[in-house]
Amino acid sequence: MRSKVSIIGAGNVGATCAFRIAEKGYADIVLLDVIEGLPQGKGLDMLEATPIIDSDVKITGTNEYKETANSDIVVITSGVPRKPGMSRDDLVLTNMKIVREVTEGVVRYSPNCIIIVVANPLDAMTQLALHISKFPRNRVLGQSGILDSARFRTFIAQELDVSVKNVSTCVLGGHGDAMVPVTRLCTVGGIAISELLPEEKIDGLVERTVKGGGEIVSLLKTGSAFYAPAAATAQMVDAIILDRKEILPCAAYLEGEYGINGVVVGVPVKLGKNAIEQIVEIKLTPEEDAALKKSANAVLELIKIMGL
Ligand code: APR
Repeated sequence: MRSKVSIIGAGNVGATCAFRIAEKGYADIVLLDVIEGLPQGKGLDMLEATPIIDSDVKITGTNEYKETANSDIVVITSGVPRKPGMSRDDLVLTNMKIVREVTEGVVRYSPNCIIIVVANPLDAMTQLALHISKFPRNRVLGQSGILDSARFRTFIAQELDVSVKNVSTCVLGGHGDAMVPVTRLCTVGGIAISELLPEEKIDGLVERTVKGGGEIVSLLKTGSAFYAPAAATAQMVDAIILDRKEILPCAAYLEGEYGINGVVVGVPVKLGKNAIEQIVEIKLTPEEDAALKKSANAVLELIKIMGL
């Protein structure tokens, strides 16, 4: 039997992610949105592409949670994207209402699913979904670090004119202005980045990574990035459904790891069939540690605003 993945929110991120997963062929997909006709129309359009993309998956568009019943994974993309000049944190009050209502609907019909949150502000919304679902922490995680790392990898590859496949990075912390790209661990073909680029150049690429989402928002003017966020989410779905045991940076609820307790923040995790199978702890320098704690504190501020 094929796996079942439901995607809540049939907007830019949700629909793009659904199509990427449809191309893989390992899971039937349910696309749910509040707007009548939108998920049905996009779902049917994707289904009509399956003969061409050589995939036998079923794709259903719906406005009803009962169609999502017994999903293995539910991806929550429902939420408002930011407009130029807004930070992700400005979305907290609007998106908390949506994520709360959506999580309740999801849990009612799929009490054993794994939830991947994509709605922003990412870490706070992941913590909200964890709180509402009452699921164990391994089954509720957020997509952010893969995207932030991918941006960093892209900029480094561009700068050095090398394949993006050669570039490996580690980005910790919340998905916001306080994220922590750990340049010490960044390699290109196994070579430390510090051997290949001067410090000022690396700092410039870090700065562009931290502001990467905003760069796209100011270009698009009506919405935020979706191709790279959707691809990052699909990579998490792959790792879980295919039990790949892949080490990927994801937003996870920490209970003492990295000296942080009771807050969702981005860390390297091992992703397999049980979702978060391990939180990988690495030794940080005092500066990196302070930056990670600062980032976690920024998430905590939002948690307080949400009253959790
Ligand atoms: N239930 C289901 N769907 C909802 C709900 C709800 N309560 N509220 C809103 N939606 C749907 C909208 O109707 C819309 O189709 O969520 C979809 C969001 O799609 P877009 O507006 O295109 O936003 P998108 O770019 O996909 O971003 C979604 O992901 O990256 C983050 O910051 C981004 O929070 C945003 C989220």
